Amino acid sequence: MSALLPLQVRELSYAAGGRGIIDGVSFSLEAGPRTVILGANGAGKSVLMRLLHGLLVPTAGSIEWSEPNPERRRRRQAMVFQRPVMLRRSALANLEYALQLAGVAPAERRRRALAALAGVGLAPLAQRPARVLSGGEQQRLALARAWTLRPEVLFLDEPTANLDPSATREIENAAAAVRAEGTKIVMTTHNLGLARRLGDEVLFLHQGRLVEHSPIEQFFKQPRSAEAAAFIKGELPWV
Ligand SMILES: Nc1ncnc2c1ncn2[C@@H]1O[C@H](COP(=O)(O)OP(=O)(O)OP(=O)(O)O)[C@@H](O)[C@H]1O
Ligand SMILES: [Mg+2]
Repeated sequence: MSALLPLQVRELSYAAGGRGIIDGVSFSLEAGPRTVILGANGAGKSVLMRLLHGLLVPTAGSIEWSEPNPERRRRRQAMVFQRPVMLRRSALANLEYALQLAGVAPAERRRRALAALAGVGLAPLAQRPARVLSGGEQQRLALARAWTLRPEVLFLDEPTANLDPSATREIENAAAAVRAEGTKIVMTTHNLGLARRLGDEVLFLHQGRLVEHSPIEQFFKQPRSAEAAAFIKGELPWV
């Protein structure tokens, strides 16, 4: 049973720099299905995710989690950013520090941190300073850092951007393991293959509006909007 989900989002809007970025978006998310947020560059995917994670305050509308207590909510959700930031210490120590902040007992920290590193294929790099890891290695480390906290909901913003095929597979395997432990995954991606393999349902954003919310198969086979059809064919720009 999830304490956080379902999530109800109603008429959510966010404006910054004098313009609307998210525009009257409504949907609900249930525990279980993996949700993929798709859309062209600048569609508002990362901003929507930051709103859901509580890092931005909506201009209008509401985000209602089933858990009303913000402090309890905060401990049960985690986010991996498009550009992760690591502390100036080893990969292992970065994970142990996150576990310390989460109140995990010292004796448990090393075991859990090592397990998460192994889960993303970084066990051999445990002692290496996190900031000298390659971009792709840092992305995997960021996933391990979030995963080790055992969140109920995990937001992944472009988890495989900049990754080579083998690192992408490591992320996919890690995401499958996270899911197997009962975590709800919400992710953005430009990789349509990844979306098909890892997604159960799609939220498709176009210029800050929610154009489709569909099961993944239906989205790819029978998109309901011209924008989604163009996006799938590669006719809307994305990286
Ligand atoms: N604080 C802000 N002030 C002004 N504009 C902003 C701000 N934050 C985001 N934006 C703009 O909002 C739009 C949506 O940004 P967002 O990062 O959500 O796009 P995205 O869908 O994640 O794109 P990408 O696929 O490139 O990651 C962009 O045009 C961005 O420049
Ligand atoms: Mg983004």
